Amino acid sequence: MSLEEQYRLIEFADLGDERGNLVVIEGEGMDIPFDIRRVFYIYGSDSTVVRGNHANRETEFLLVNVSGRSKVRVDNGSESAVIELDRPRMGLYLSAMLWKDMYEFSEDSVLLVLASRHYDEREYIRDYDTYLRVLREKESSEGE
Ligand code: TYD
Repeated sequence: MSLEEQYRLIEFADLGDERGNLVVIEGEGMDIPFDIRRVFYIYGSDSTVVRGNHANRETEFLLVNVSGRSKVRVDNGSESAVIELDRPRMGLYLSAMLWKDMYEFSEDSVLLVLASRHYDEREYIRDYDTYLRVLREKESSEGE
């Protein structure tokens, strides 16, 4: 599968009015492809920090910088891309088995993450060589 099929930017509607902005993200295929099982957010990271550095075997994610900016680098073992998140209405959907890094957080960055699965450390791959090996194993078992 090409990298372009493994991530995408989603622009959410603004239901705001004169009282301010309102952005809604509904799961189960309404605004994003998955049912939301977990929410976490990252703030207080700065421009020197690199987070992530892992792939998830099963979990899909949706990232939104609800405040500030950050960059996300995605890598599928053969291609990579960098996406800048800088708007509260812009979501980045990531499929499972993508290697990802988050970095260059602005001071006011609040990075909201919606996940398709509950936390389970066993589905994290935190070593890049292991990630490449798991990808090769998947490819050879799918080719059988
Ligand atoms: P880590 O995976 O390093 O965060 P990031 O993806 O931002 O680099 O997670 C830091 C710690 O928090 C680690 O001990 C695992 C724990 N953690 C949970 O318990 N639940 C979660 O949903 C997440 C994302 C992390």
